[in-house]
Amino acid sequence: MGEKITISLIKADVGGFPGHSAVRTELKEKAIERLEKAKREGLLISYHVLTAGDDLQLLMSHRKGVDSTDIHGLAWDTFEAATEVAKELKLHGAGQDLLVDAFSGNIRGMGPGIAEMEFTERGSEPLVAFMMDKTEPGAFNLPIYKMFADPFTTAGLVIDPTMHDGFIFEVWDIKDRKEVLFRCPEELYDLLALIGAKSRYVIKRVYPRDTSPLPKDEPVAVISTEKLYFTAGKYVGKDDPVALVRAQSGLPALGEVLEPFSLPFLVSGWMRGSHNGPIIPVPFRYSHCTRFDGPPRVVAAGFQISHGRLVGPADLFDDPAFDLARSKALEIADYVRAHGPFEPHRLPMEDMEYTTLPDILKKLESRFKNV
Ligand code: F6R
Ligand code: MG
Ligand code: MG
Repeated sequence: MGEKITISLIKADVGGFPGHSAVRTELKEKAIERLEKAKREGLLISYHVLTAGDDLQLLMSHRKGVDSTDIHGLAWDTFEAATEVAKELKLHGAGQDLLVDAFSGNIRGMGPGIAEMEFTERGSEPLVAFMMDKTEPGAFNLPIYKMFADPFTTAGLVIDPTMHDGFIFEVWDIKDRKEVLFRCPEELYDLLALIGAKSRYVIKRVYPRDTSPLPKDEPVAVISTEKLYFTAGKYVGKDDPVALVRAQSGLPALGEVLEPFSLPFLVSGWMRGSHNGPIIPVPFRYSHCTRFDGPPRVVAAGFQISHGRLVGPADLFDDPAFDLARSKALEIADYVRAHGPFEPHRLPMEDMEYTTLPDILKKLESRFKNV
């Protein structure tokens, strides 16, 4: 076993071009300039600036551990610098995810989303960074469940002796801010009872079991769980989630990690964060949201970690193997869109990001008669 490494994926929407569709190259260039400087100064071992829809994604490797003020501060400064560029270009929603005026030590709860984990680098350390746009953290529940608990997805759960005992899931109640651990497979049904309610219960981390050769206290997957309207008490920004997943040798193989995305499952978000629709797995070049501000999409960047360095990225959904998922997603998108303002295309009232309902009810107050 090698040295410990920390991977931090921190993202924010600091301005879209045009509208909420994508990130302008100038913002990416500004971020690269900042992270390159931090690398030269020795804070970062390596970094990649990626984009998912209108979100700017900073993927960094370093030895500072999780919740490092230096790393979080670097991300915050980088988003602030990119916001300046966005303001000058009058990009849409410039600085929208930076909810506070000044950085105060830890970026969590300040607007940006974060997935971060520290672990001992193995002889071969494959890693996938998943980035979704126009959806919420619970959108990762189904694919993470399938990767680490579904034997129809992950053959290794059945036939690899190093995985046969299953995994441990850490689930957060993002409304009441509580967490609970589930040992799977024996607690699968309890796990599913919660994570099926994906707007409230979200998988935060996955850990190996006692019998695994991997260190038990080191996560093998982590998901960002910032939900901005809970964070700030009211709706103020987007909560498009990201996840980091380690693969192979006692963990799901790369292909088992990608397999759940062969189904364009339904997620909530899309137009005005208020609609259900299919998630579409896309290559980097299609990482921009168009039709009805979507459909929601996911990109996957693959890496091998070498002495802390993120070697990559591989554009993992740039493969005809996902063409069928994409065309199915388009068909589903057409079908659900035909429902217009009706549920279940439009979200139930309590989950909508925008609503005029209280105003309409107020206006009608005097006209309502008892029945
Ligand atoms: C959804 C999203 C967009 C916006 C919509 C309206 O997550 O980002 O669908 O909600 O484009 O945006 P504003 O209110 O900025 O005009
Ligand atoms: Mg936006
Ligand atoms: Mg976004």
